[in-house]
Amino acid sequence: MRPLNRHRASQPKFRRIVINLHCHATLIVNQVQLSITHAPLITAGVAANMAGLGQSVDRDNGLLDYSRLSGMMLQAWSPFQKGFFDGVFLGDRENFAELNNALDDLAKAYGVTPMGIAVAWITRHPANIQVVLGTTKPIRVTEAAAGSAVPLTREEWYRLFTAAGHILP
Ligand SMILES: NC(=O)c1ccc[n+]([C@@H]2O[C@H](COP(=O)([O-])OP(=O)(O)OC[C@H]3O[C@@H](n4cnc5c(N)ncnc54)[C@H](OP(=O)(O)O)[C@@H]3O)[C@@H](O)[C@H]2O)c1
Repeated sequence: MRPLNRHRASQPKFRRIVINLHCHATLIVNQVQLSITHAPLITAGVAANMAGLGQSVDRDNGLLDYSRLSGMMLQAWSPFQKGFFDGVFLGDRENFAELNNALDDLAKAYGVTPMGIAVAWITRHPANIQVVLGTTKPIRVTEAAAGSAVPLTREEWYRLFTAAGHILP
């Protein structure tokens, strides 16, 4: 079990003032691209302040921290895409063999599909992130919903994290 460390602080107070001044509104939901393989929102905070490591670059000015501190809901779009509309990582053993092995193992252990585990990786995060998937197959919505209830352990969550190629310092 690893302690939570290398996470950044953010500037929630400043941003809330700016939003109120310019929009006279409160932000309650923000949609962001997030999947196990496209996760700078999460991965930067896990390896913060490490010179020379691309993962350490803060690309969103601490959006995850801000969202949690201010009670703003994040919704994850493209939850199965490798990158920016590059196709899904599910079943892509050429590029993501270790990740697909981990997804398969956990799917078997929890009695859901690998896609369900990919959903669980997002919903298990303490920020209570919602998943916005796209599909032409109704069964995938059922499978995703089943996955959202899977209580991955921290070890399982970080196994998926590292299997996707992210660094855990
Ligand atoms: N706010 C924004 O800026 C923003 C930007 C982009 C998207 N969005 C929203 O987010 C939604 C989801 O985005 P997305 O469609 O890119 O996300 P996605 O759910 O990651 O990808 C959907 C695609 O993955 C395929 N797929 C799912 N599971 C699969 C599997 N096990 N094997 C093979 N293919 C699989 C689906 O095909 P099947 O049809 O065969 O299931 C579909 O083509 C969109 O519909 C849109 O409403 C919002």
